[in-house]
Amino acid sequence: MDIQIRDATEADLPAIVEIYNQSIPGGWSTADTKPITVAERVEWFRKHDPAKRPLWIAEMDGQIAAWIGLSSFYAGRPAYDATAEVSLYVASAFHGRGIGAFLKKRMIEHCPRLGVTTLLSMHFDHNQATRRLNDRLGFQELGHLPESAVVEGKTRGLVISALRIPAADWISSVFNPWLKILPLSINQAP
Ligand SMILES: CC(C)(COP(=O)(O)OP(=O)(O)OC[C@H]1O[C@@H](n2cnc3c(N)ncnc32)[C@H](O)[C@@H]1OP(=O)(O)O)[C@@H](O)C(=O)NCCC(=O)NCCS
Repeated sequence: MDIQIRDATEADLPAIVEIYNQSIPGGWSTADTKPITVAERVEWFRKHDPAKRPLWIAEMDGQIAAWIGLSSFYAGRPAYDATAEVSLYVASAFHGRGIGAFLKKRMIEHCPRLGVTTLLSMHFDHNQATRRLNDRLGFQELGHLPESAVVEGKTRGLVISALRIPAADWISSVFNPWLKILPLSINQAP
C-alpha cells in the first residue's frame, strides 16, 4: 500500500476536522451530533506531542486520507501516563481499503517508544468496522455501557476495549514471538 505517514501540523487541522465531520452523519462513529469547527479543535490539537501522544496524518494518492492520534486518559492524571486512547478517522472516500487497519497496527508498533502499555479504544456498540478492526488487532472488550448515548434519535451503547502492550525493553529482550507478529521499529519516525 503506497501510504505516507507523518506527524500532523497545525496546517493540517482543516483536513483533520473535515474527515472527522464526515463521520458524524449516520451516527456510527462519534458522539458529536453536529459538525465541529477548526477553532474548536485547536486546543485539542496542541495537546498532542510526537514523543508521547502523536497525531499522524496518512497521505495516499497525494491526498490526506486519514488521521490517527493518541490522547491521554482520565484528563491526563499522571498515574495513567502509560494509558492512552486511540482515535482513528479515515476519509469516507478511502473507507474499506485497509488504511484503518494499517494505521492502527502502526500506532500499536510505536506504543513502546511512546511509553504506552495500555491502549484504549472506545466506540459505539453498533460501530462494526471498529469492532472488527479491534478484534483483528487483539483488543479485548473490557466494558460496555449499554444505552448510554442518544444518537440520531436512537439509544446506543459505548464499548471500551483495551490492548495490553509489553514495555519496550521487555519486548526487545524477551518476547520474540510477539515481535514476529508486529515487527517493531521503535526508534523510527512513523
Ligand atoms: C472505522 C474505520 C477507522 C475503519 O477504517 P477502514 O480503513 O475503513 O477499515 P479497513 O479497510 O482497514 O478494515 C478494517 C476492518 O473493518 C471492517 N470494516 C470496514 N468497514 C466496515 C463497515 N462499514 N462495516 C463493517 N465492517 C467494516 C473490514 O472488513 C475489516 O475487518 P476484517 O479484517 O474483519 O475484514 C473507518 O471506517 C472510519 O474512519 N470510520 C468512521 C470513523 C470511526 O468510526 N472511527 C472510530 C471512532 S471510535
